Amino acid sequence: MSPCSIEFETLQKQQRNCVVGYALTSKKVKSFLRPKLEGLARNKGISFVPIDQNKPLSDQGPFDIVLHKMTGREWRQILEEYRQTHPKVLVLDPPDAIKHLQNRQSMLQCVADMNLSEFYGKVGVPRQLVIKSDASSIPDHVAEAGLRLPFVAKPLINDGSAKSHELSLAYDQYSLWKLEPPLILQEFVNHGGVLFKVFIVGEAIKVVRRFSLPNVTKRDISTNVGVYRFPRVSRAAASADDVDLDPSVAELPPRPLLERLAKELRQRLGLRLFNLDIIREYGTRDHYYIIDINYFPGYGKMPGYEQMFTDFILSLMQQNRKKEEKEKKSDQPYVTRFGL
Ligand SMILES: Nc1ncnc2c1ncn2[C@@H]1O[C@H](COP(=O)(O)OP(=O)(O)O)[C@@H](O)[C@H]1O
Ligand SMILES: [Mg+2]
Repeated sequence: MSPCSIEFETLQKQQRNCVVGYALTSKKVKSFLRPKLEGLARNKGISFVPIDQNKPLSDQGPFDIVLHKMTGREWRQILEEYRQTHPKVLVLDPPDAIKHLQNRQSMLQCVADMNLSEFYGKVGVPRQLVIKSDASSIPDHVAEAGLRLPFVAKPLINDGSAKSHELSLAYDQYSLWKLEPPLILQEFVNHGGVLFKVFIVGEAIKVVRRFSLPNVTKRDISTNVGVYRFPRVSRAAASADDVDLDPSVAELPPRPLLERLAKELRQRLGLRLFNLDIIREYGTRDHYYIIDINYFPGYGKMPGYEQMFTDFILSLMQQNRKKEEKEKKSDQPYVTRFGL
């Protein structure tokens, strides 16, 4: 090979390289940044570089992409400033959009606003009520809203802490004062003990079945009183739960419905990395409810996530290159590189 062609190859490689800076908890690094992902990515010219949170972000890099899942106002501010001063770097995802998911009411608001009814099925949100304070007023609010027991009570703010995942099931209205606001009260929807987790990575979707809570029967309602702390369904059954259930357990929601849903939500939420917990109402064929949306979920549990993620980053780089070329041709300076 002539020195000239070596030089050309190096130049090509340099152009293709993509540096992803990441700010993730050590737990997330362990579950997500596995050797297989790093290996696949490396072969495509993508490298992952840890961000040191004790140093100014602008002094690090240069990055093409910043991948993060950290909470806290200070970090949000750092990222917002960085986005302003480094418009060409893609921050996955914008901190304000992520914050939107931390409140269980605002999280589901855009689903409620969406009109997806009668498109391969109905998709909605269980009827719910927000109680900001004063537990003694709950029975009155419930009566006023006409909500039907039993209820799932969920802490209003989901900041990822163990406490924010402490859910309860309330069987009768006389025990509602025992709950601790701020919370949302959601009607319990029977769904035959199966839940669908829909993982979204940019434009790609992957859905898996998981065990969930069993149906509540009329008999349960007449014989149970009080408020019961949930077993941690989403975590407690985790080991058995990490694998996709047998397909015979439940038919998956139709693909076109999931694709449309993912597309709408990606735009409305302004996020590319999230998942949805969806249940199908027991006894119906196509009545779906979204009960939870999480930012940058445990992709490590999703089979084949390594390839999916590598392809996602490649597609972002490709989009970016096209944009640059277009802007070069039109002689316009480009400001932001990545569009949603
Ligand atoms: N409205 C509901 N009807 C029936 N089951 C529910 C409802 N909401 C939550 N669940 C059950 O509780 C579990 C945890 O609820 P979720 O809203 O996903 O909270 P978390 O933030 O802890 O994941 C779900 O996986 C599902 O099994
Ligand atoms: Mg959940």
